[in-house]
Amino acid sequence: MTTSSTTLPGGTWSMGDRTVTRFGYGAMQLAGPWVMGPPADHDGALAVLREVVDLGITHLDTSAAYGPHVTNRLIREALHPYPDALLVATKVGADRDAQGGWPPARRPADIRRQVQENLDDLGVDSLDLVYLRLGDAEGPVAGSLAAPFETLVELQEQGLVRHLGVSNATAEQVAEARAIAPIVCVQNMYNLAHRADDELVDALAADGIAYVPFFPLGGFSPLQSAALSAVADRTGATPMSVALAWLLQRSPNVLLIPGTSSVAHLRENVAGAGLQLAADDVAELDAIGR
Ligand SMILES: NC(=O)c1ccc[n+]([C@@H]2O[C@H](COP(=O)([O-])OP(=O)(O)OC[C@H]3O[C@@H](n4cnc5c(N)ncnc54)[C@H](OP(=O)(O)O)[C@@H]3O)[C@@H](O)[C@H]2O)c1
Repeated sequence: MTTSSTTLPGGTWSMGDRTVTRFGYGAMQLAGPWVMGPPADHDGALAVLREVVDLGITHLDTSAAYGPHVTNRLIREALHPYPDALLVATKVGADRDAQGGWPPARRPADIRRQVQENLDDLGVDSLDLVYLRLGDAEGPVAGSLAAPFETLVELQEQGLVRHLGVSNATAEQVAEARAIAPIVCVQNMYNLAHRADDELVDALAADGIAYVPFFPLGGFSPLQSAALSAVADRTGATPMSVALAWLLQRSPNVLLIPGTSSVAHLRENVAGAGLQLAADDVAELDAIGR
C-alpha cells in the first residue's frame, strides 16, 4: 500500500528517523462505547482508517488497551501491510478491567507483555513508537518511571521498539525519561481549555521533541466556550476547526491526533485545521485557557 502525496495542514515534523504529517489521527474512538468492545459499525471503522491513509496522514495513534485489542486489530485489518510512510504509535502502562477502568500495569513483566500484545495485534515485528503511559484517568501522578521505562529501553535494544515517548507525564517524569534514553515525543492532555503544559510545550519545542496533545477537541466532552464560538462565527469555521487550527499555530512541535469514527468528520477536520487565525483571534482564544 502507498500513501498519497496530499498536502495536509501543518506540514510535517521529524521524530527520530521518521517524518510524519503534523495532522495525524487518534484511533481510540473506533472501539465501542467508553473504548470497550467492538464498534457498532465495523465496516465504518475500517473505512475511517483507510481514509486516514488515503488523505496522506502518516501518524496514527493507538494502544492495545483500546477495546482492549479491538482498535489495533481494526488497524491491522484495514491497513496491513502498512505503508512505509505510516508511523503507528502505541502505548503500554495500563490494562483494562471488566468495568472499563484503566488500571496501571507497569511492572517489567507487564511492559513486556503489553509490547508483545501490540506486536501481535498490529501484526509487526517491531513497533514504530511506544509511549509509556503514566498517571491515571485523572491525569499525571508524580513518581519515578525508571523501572518501566528501563524495561522499554531494553525492548528497544532488542529491536522490538524503534522510538520511545512518554504520556500522561509530569515535567519531572519527562526529564527523568530523557536522562535514561532519548524520547521523540510527549503525549499529554492539552487543548484550548487545558493548558497546564504550556511551559512543557515550549521547552520540548526548543529541544526538537514533539508534543502530541490528547483530547485536542475535548475528548468525551467536546470543547465549548463563548470565545471559541465567537471566533468560529467571525471566521466562518466550525469550533472544531478553530480548536485544531489554534493547536497547529500554537507551536511547530505540536502534532494533532484528533479522533473520530466518521469519515465526514475526518475530512472536515483536515479541511478545517488549515484555517489561518489572525492575531486577534489567537489572543481571544488564548484567554480561554488562562
Ligand atoms: N495517552 C492517553 O492517555 C490518551 C488519552 C485519551 C486519548 N488519547 C489519544 O488521543 C486521541 C484523541 O482523543 P479523543 O479521540 O478521545 O478525543 P478528541 O480528538 O478530543 O475528540 C474526539 C471526539 O470529537 C468528535 N469529533 C471529531 N471531529 C468532529 C467534528 N468534525 N464534528 C463534530 N464532532 C467531532 C468525535 O465524535 P465522532 O466520532 O462523532 O466524530 C469524538 O467524540 C485518541 O484517539 C487517542 O489516540 C490518548
